[in-house]
Amino acid sequence: MRTVTRIFTVNSRAPDRATIAVAAEAIAAGRLVAFPTETVYGLGANALDSHAVDRIFAVKQRPFNDPLIVHVASATQLMRVAHPIPEVARLLAERFWPGALTLVLRRAPGVAPNVSAGMDTVAVRVPAHAVAHALLELSDLPIAAPSANLFSRPSPTTARHVLDDLGGRIDIVLDGGATPIGVESTVLDLTQDRPLLLRPGGVPVEDLRELLPDLLVPALPTVVKENVPAAAPGSLLKHYAPRVPVVLLRGELPQAPAFVRRAVELLRKQGRRPGLLVPDEEVSHYTDLGVAVVTLGPAGDSGALAKVLFARLRELDHLGVDLVLAQDVQGPGLGLAISDRLFRAAEGRVLNVAESPSFLDEFFARCPYPEREMSVPARSAAG
Ligand code: TXA
Ligand code: MG
Repeated sequence: MRTVTRIFTVNSRAPDRATIAVAAEAIAAGRLVAFPTETVYGLGANALDSHAVDRIFAVKQRPFNDPLIVHVASATQLMRVAHPIPEVARLLAERFWPGALTLVLRRAPGVAPNVSAGMDTVAVRVPAHAVAHALLELSDLPIAAPSANLFSRPSPTTARHVLDDLGGRIDIVLDGGATPIGVESTVLDLTQDRPLLLRPGGVPVEDLRELLPDLLVPALPTVVKENVPAAAPGSLLKHYAPRVPVVLLRGELPQAPAFVRRAVELLRKQGRRPGLLVPDEEVSHYTDLGVAVVTLGPAGDSGALAKVLFARLRELDHLGVDLVLAQDVQGPGLGLAISDRLFRAAEGRVLNVAESPSFLDEFFARCPYPEREMSVPARSAAG
């Protein structure tokens, strides 16, 4: 079903209210509007209208068992979508909202059940971005909005990314420029005995621990197999993935350059065309290799890395390579979120840089080639 997608350019700090009002009317009429938040672009629909919510799943090709986040204008609107509100939710809201924290609570009647994939819980957040805020205020509705990408693709951090995936399938895109944080919100489940981290994101775990000393943080990225109901829906292994296969490299950094050189040599012998995704500081090790290198930003600045991460993952499909070796980034701040996204972009394919050459041989022999669509421009593949 094709439609004409209208693109409205808006000021990200002080959006024109008349423009936002047009988008708000579209939301009220059951249509889909993509809009910037401080994390990534969201694909919004009226959270009280199950038909509109159904369209989100259809347009994104998202499985119906993967619930959506409901956005509200302020913490005082929380009662419209969740009930009861535990005291800890109030404390977290006071400290982190508006902002990149999503709370999973009990769903209030009135919220379309398909928002929560039929579960009795609901994920809620108050976004900080002026455009998102104005849209929520002027529509006076809770807005269900997953990231505005095709299912399993990297989340969109610009209006261009949204159009590449969903152009011709949604009604309006509010173009407010690049989103400032670049990775999605942190998702916290408050419906269990202890608060549980479901997804690392824009609010670092260290900050949450100040209020939640008993926070449960899974040691490894949570992986859920397709079609298996689980406590953390949406934690599928393949997520945020470019079309070209990615292999994540972990281990001691000093060993990485020698390892990468060996791997590139081996892959070339196998007739493959490898590319690299590495932090800025590492680029100089590979300039003489003649491989395509995409840089992620300065390794020590997780905020800067997060900002460009998804754009860089999308770029990998346009390098003319058939496999990407990506160096893992770990550390405080947004490091946990970045490492989680890289792991899923790699669909769990992880190599330790201490592995032996014979192991490498075997590993790459098993590594898949890109999906067929890779040779087709992303736009027509999506449309
Ligand atoms: O930053 C963000 O969170 C962005 C912007 C647009 O707000 N939204 C976003 O939505 O990333 P989405 O749908 O791509 O990711 C929502 C995550 C999924 O992993 C989903 O499974 C989880 O939140 N989630 C939503 N409702 C849930 C619920 N009731 N229980 C457990 N997890 C839930
Ligand atoms: Mg998403």
